[in-house]
Amino acid sequence: MCGIVGVVGSADALPRIYDGLKRLEYRGYDSAGIAMAIPGAGVEVRKAQGKLSALADLLPGFPAGLTVGIGHTRWATHGRPTDLNAHPQVDCSGTLAAVHNGIIENWREVREELEAAGHRFRSETDTEVLLHLVEAYGGTRDLLPAVTRAVGRLTGAYAFLILSAAEPEHLIAVRRASPLVIGVGEHENYLGSDVSAFLPYTRRALVLNDGELAVVGKEDIALYRLEEERLVPLHREPFQVTWTVQQAERGGYPHFMLKEIMEQPEVWGDCLLGRTAAGAVRWEELGLDPAEAAGWPRIQMVAAGTAYHAGLLGRAWMEGLARVPVDVDLSSEFRYRQPLLQPGTPVWAISQSGETADTLASLRLARELGAPTYAVVNVVGSTIAREADRVAYTRAGPEIAVASTKAYTTQLLTLLLAALGLAGSRGRPRPDLVEELAALPRLGREFLPRASEWARARAGELAAARDVFFIGRGLDYALAMEGQLKLKEISYLHAEAYAAGELKHGTLALIEEGVPVIALATQPELVEKTASNIEEVQARGAQVWVIAGAGLAPHLPAAEVLSLPALPPLLAPFLAAPVLQLLAYWTAVVRGENVDQPRNLAKSVTVE
Ligand code: G6P
Repeated sequence: MCGIVGVVGSADALPRIYDGLKRLEYRGYDSAGIAMAIPGAGVEVRKAQGKLSALADLLPGFPAGLTVGIGHTRWATHGRPTDLNAHPQVDCSGTLAAVHNGIIENWREVREELEAAGHRFRSETDTEVLLHLVEAYGGTRDLLPAVTRAVGRLTGAYAFLILSAAEPEHLIAVRRASPLVIGVGEHENYLGSDVSAFLPYTRRALVLNDGELAVVGKEDIALYRLEEERLVPLHREPFQVTWTVQQAERGGYPHFMLKEIMEQPEVWGDCLLGRTAAGAVRWEELGLDPAEAAGWPRIQMVAAGTAYHAGLLGRAWMEGLARVPVDVDLSSEFRYRQPLLQPGTPVWAISQSGETADTLASLRLARELGAPTYAVVNVVGSTIAREADRVAYTRAGPEIAVASTKAYTTQLLTLLLAALGLAGSRGRPRPDLVEELAALPRLGREFLPRASEWARARAGELAAARDVFFIGRGLDYALAMEGQLKLKEISYLHAEAYAAGELKHGTLALIEEGVPVIALATQPELVEKTASNIEEVQARGAQVWVIAGAGLAPHLPAAEVLSLPALPPLLAPFLAAPVLQLLAYWTAVVRGENVDQPRNLAKSVTVE
């Protein structure tokens, strides 16, 4: 996710902001910028697309000795990664600058309203609406009430830092859902999207909670709770940060992979923001057009690796809910198999990076064949996103560990949203399911710590195995395929996924005393069938662990069972997938492998 830095009061504010941005580089970014308060002259901004070195080239333009400023590393969500879209953004008059993390849900309608009132927008970002709103509500003349009113108009997730030419001694910080921390120094204070931004300068920190605002000066920090449009003063004592710089980058987790697994509930929330309303999917927020989709005879999906496994689940949802036939191909196969596409069939490319060579080639082939194209991509402005006719972003934020986790489950969520949208437009609305999606972040937050303990307790045995089998039916088979890939990727164990009903056609011969079998049984209509497959492998001595849907354990033979919390069975993959990721993670940890950078694998495969 984007990185935020603010410094107030230090004679070395500019180098410290730049240094803070360097420390936040690990979060991934595509552009960066800094705004400084220039006494007597207002606010000045320097920003550049690309790496921080490009920004560094612009910094000598600032006068020496500036004491207050804000900085940002941007990971594009709304608008491409360009100089103009880089933060800080400014208002019409150029007297207010802001940096922002998060996603503003209602930016489109607010922007239209402000443009109609004469505000000039310079960027494609959702962020800019904040500045023009503040301006509309009184701007720098009465800054705090204007900011309070402006954030009251916004829905979604945000952490903002605001710098004003009229009050250049202070920074205003506001938080809702996106993290923001204050670093408390001696005659200087800091702000950061995480403590890594200021750890070398102070280890005393104050966390800003959701719905809080802070006015931070050199000697003073005023904290408030936002209640409607009122500011209620608060008091909170700083705490001592004991993390090392490395721990801080990983949010206290030992590896990026574990951090990314555990932050899935948060990114699901981001992925859902603004995309549903009153039990229906908002098509435009997924880049889809119902009129065009009405004519699709079927859908062809193409993807590689984990994204291919997401496509398999996408197919199940699309066919089950919308009754639209779907084919899913590995992109490395599709491009060479001389595909026959029924006229009007769209090709959907699913890709975290948006750069995978085979998926890009498949997309280009689809265009040559005259097919409409659609991309489900995480990286904004990536080649696949640019070349597809339409695009939906998965909003997982940067994924650093090579093994994909949060990118996968946000691909799932985006595909499920598309399936629900299509189902609605074809006379099969499921408002019940659309409403239930909102509960996923909470369910995930509650369940993941328990799932992690469960997986950790099994890792010792898995780590000692030679072969591991994953079985399931329907949605669970698609999940099993991702489970085995995760385990192979980072623990280097031999793992296979089998459709549970297919075992007796060959693979059962490999089951012997003590072989671990991980069975998925999350779907009530298939549980009895999977139960008999579990019995088959148990009878050959397999050691079986089951991930079961809520209430299904009594239908399963005695085995070690982890039951998912109650949720509609079609949503079970969102909680079952993290269990599989955690099994792979803890097994690799026990085996002492390089979890975040497994041998022979690359995060983005841009060559054939
Ligand atoms: C590589 C990565 C996988 C990823 C696959 C497809 O193999 O290691 O995690 O699933 O590429 O990448 P994409 O960026 O297209 O989703």
